[in-house]
Amino acid sequence: MGKQEKIVSMFNDISGKYDIANRVLSMGIDKSWRNKACKLAFDFYGKNRIEKIADVACGTGDMIDFWLKIAKQNRIEVENIVGIDPSVGMMDVAKKKLPEVEFIEAGAANMPLESESTDIISISYGIRNVVQRQEAFYEFARVLKTNGLVVISEFTKNEKNSPIDYLTDFYMNKILPTLGGMITKNKEAYTYLPNSIDEFLTTDNLCKELKEAGLEPIYTKAFSMNISTLIIARKV
Ligand SMILES: C[S@@+](CC[C@H](N)C(=O)[O-])C[C@H]1O[C@@H](n2cnc3c(N)ncnc32)[C@H](O)[C@@H]1O
Repeated sequence: MGKQEKIVSMFNDISGKYDIANRVLSMGIDKSWRNKACKLAFDFYGKNRIEKIADVACGTGDMIDFWLKIAKQNRIEVENIVGIDPSVGMMDVAKKKLPEVEFIEAGAANMPLESESTDIISISYGIRNVVQRQEAFYEFARVLKTNGLVVISEFTKNEKNSPIDYLTDFYMNKILPTLGGMITKNKEAYTYLPNSIDEFLTTDNLCKELKEAGLEPIYTKAFSMNISTLIIARKV
């Protein structure tokens, strides 16, 4: 099995326990990160009628839930929202929660969406898992309308230099794998999480890759002691 297949198979394996593990491990703060991502993206986009949002690496559908909720709160009409993920197990959980939403089995680098068809593409805590990352950014640029937005939420790599960074590091490397392993009975998946963050790019390098694909970063911000970073880029 190749690296990408192994990652997808790991998500299939933990899919039934993913939501509960997520709530416990993030202690609910991911809700505020998701809220901010959706709210800011709608503000930047500035339209009250949106034809299509594609949530890539949608997993169990959490981000789609937030898009719909925040759109409603802000009286924004979203005509179509689609979830895309190569893990059928994760999307089976999503389908139960969001029966009205369309889900498509596909990877980020090769999506069955028409060129220039989509207003907003989101990918939350997913880009780290995409092995063909640069290809995925080109694919996002193909699918987006001009001025369309890519909204990336991710645990990006931090240069460790403050005592707080060591504390979050301890949580991610020691507490999280143990707790995550207990909840899902798959410790490997929750050891993969901190390792994949360590191996991942810094925000600056991620922005460089986006630019390379024609996606111009317009907003970057790290939340909650730099644990989660939000990047919004616009297709130029
Ligand atoms: C940590 S989960 C995040 C799920 C959801 N976006 C959230 O915010 O809770 C990562 C997801 O990335 C998906 N994934 C893995 N490889 C992928 C790829 N090449 N393209 C798109 N999604 C991928 C996994 O199947 C998994 O559902």
